[in-house]
Amino acid sequence: MKVAIRYYSKLGHTKDIADAMGEELGIKAISIVDEPNLKEEVDILFLGGAPYANVMDEKLRTYAKGLKKELVKRVILFTTSNWSRRTVRSLRKILTNNEIEVDKDYFYAHMLKINKRIPKVKEFIKKKVG
Ligand SMILES: Cc1cc2nc3c(=O)[nH]c(=O)nc-3n(C[C@H](O)[C@H](O)[C@H](O)COP(=O)(O)O)c2cc1C
Repeated sequence: MKVAIRYYSKLGHTKDIADAMGEELGIKAISIVDEPNLKEEVDILFLGGAPYANVMDEKLRTYAKGLKKELVKRVILFTTSNWSRRTVRSLRKILTNNEIEVDKDYFYAHMLKINKRIPKVKEFIKKKVG
C-alpha cells in the first residue's frame, strides 16, 4: 500500500505531527510549500493543516482543490489548532467534491500538547494503515 504525508505548517506544530507520522511509516513528510503538486499515485494521503484567522491558508486550499481522485484513493486529515473543526470541514468538502474519500475521523493534537500526543501518532497510524 502506497502512503504519503503532506502538510502546511506556519509555526511548526503540524510539521511535528507530520514528521512523527513519517517516522512511524518510514517515509518523509513533505510540506506543500516544497512540493505544491502531488506527483505520485497513493492509496492513502495524510494531509495536515490548521486555521489562521479562522481559515486555512490559501496554499492548502489550492492544494486540496488540485488533488485528483486518479492520484489519491483516500485522505486522512490531521490538525493541531484550538478551532480546527471548520478547517477540517472545509478540507473534507473540497476533497469530497473532487470525489476523494475522506475518513470521518482525523488526528488531533492541540498545539500546546504536541509532545504528549506524539505517542498517540503510533496508535493512529497502526489503526489506519496497519
Ligand atoms: C496568525 C495566526 C492566526 C491564527 N488564527 C487561529 C484561528 O483563527 N483559530 C485557531 O484555532 N487557531 C489559530 N491560530 C493557531 C494556529 O492554528 C495553531 O497554532 C496551529 O497549531 C498552527 O499550526 P502550525 O504550527 O502547523 O502552523 C492562529 C495562529 C496564527 C499564527
